[in-house]
Amino acid sequence: MSSSHPYAQPMLRDNALQGKTIVVTGGGTGLGRAMTTYFLQLGANVVISSRKLEVLEKTAAELREQTQNNNVLAVQCDVRKYDEVEAMLQKTIDTFGGVDVLLNNAAGNFISPTERLSHKAFDVIVDIVLRGSYNCTLAFGKRWIADQKPGTILNIVTTYASVGSAFVVPSAAAKAGVLAMTRSLAVEWAKYGIRSNAIAPGPFPTEGAWSRLFPEPLAKKLDPAASVPLKRVGDHQELANLAAYMVSDFSAYMNGEVVTLDGGEWLNGAGEFNKLEAIPAPMWDEIEKSMRR
Ligand code: HXC
Ligand code: NAP
Repeated sequence: MSSSHPYAQPMLRDNALQGKTIVVTGGGTGLGRAMTTYFLQLGANVVISSRKLEVLEKTAAELREQTQNNNVLAVQCDVRKYDEVEAMLQKTIDTFGGVDVLLNNAAGNFISPTERLSHKAFDVIVDIVLRGSYNCTLAFGKRWIADQKPGTILNIVTTYASVGSAFVVPSAAAKAGVLAMTRSLAVEWAKYGIRSNAIAPGPFPTEGAWSRLFPEPLAKKLDPAASVPLKRVGDHQELANLAAYMVSDFSAYMNGEVVTLDGGEWLNGAGEFNKLEAIPAPMWDEIEKSMRR
């Protein structure tokens, strides 16, 4: 997805992330890949990590070519396993001499009526999203504190992290936990120079999300853009623009914030009278007359 509209264009000035080392979990695909691409274009060193090393290596090779920045490293790491997270952190430091940013982006999700889920299905989502995020946060945070180095944490949550959502209950519960952790550590770790923020994206088409949230035959019935007041889905570059700002020092005073980027979608679902949008304009004459009477 890209267009010539400004929202699909890079936003920050050249070299805005020069010298920063950023770890992106789940960086080989989808939104993680889009953010990684832009960080590399802005001069950062980026470690992309997930379970599938061949996916990561292919992405890293393509991004070296595309961005002309060779400083991208693929590291296999299942975020559910603390020892693998520690090893990934060490490899990052050994390669780039330090680490400045942790971007908790890895996730798992699928739609299902909750009563159809096995306890293992519930576990797998919560383990990737919540355990994965706190494993990385704890390992990176301890290291920054021990080394007396500042750090920045950016967590990718969802709009339903705040309000909940039917049919994705394990994801909603886990993302709510990640959001609570974001706000809690923003206060507790500020004294160490560690900032914690989050982005709550609305619908941004990716293979990973679309295959699990809008599979056939549902895709024919549900248009993800229909519930967005702006009547479109997100462009990967506009998310990358926001993420680049939030991991950069330009956002140094932002701490404990969750920035929603959803075209107004969640508010559309929340407002009592928002459904009146469906009233055809001429009918308002009749409605007004009836009320005044
Ligand atoms: C019911 C399911 C299921 C499904 C798996 N399970 N898929 N149950 N419906 N569709 C059950 C399995 O039967 C098993 O339980 C348990 O879940 C674990 O499944 P595995 O296949 O063994 O797990 P694993 O190979 O680790 O795969 C994890 C996964 C998979 C989460 C199931 O989808 C994955 O790898 N996802 C990663 C990427 C991803 O999900 N991206 C989308 C993020 S989108 P039993 O009891 O049988 O052993 C997102 C955005 C939301 O978060 C907002 C959008 C607007
Ligand atoms: P995606 O491409 O499927 O990304 C998920 C990534 O997580 C994959 O790269 C996957 O790689 C990795 N991952 C899964 N389990 C892991 C584990 N145990 N350890 C390490 N990495 C693991 O989907 P996406 O749409 O880009 O999602 C990215 C983030 O955006 C997620 O946090 C998601 O919740 C959030 N989000 C997306 C949307 C949207 O509309 N797309 C909306 C709101 C929020 P491996 O399979 O190689 O491990």
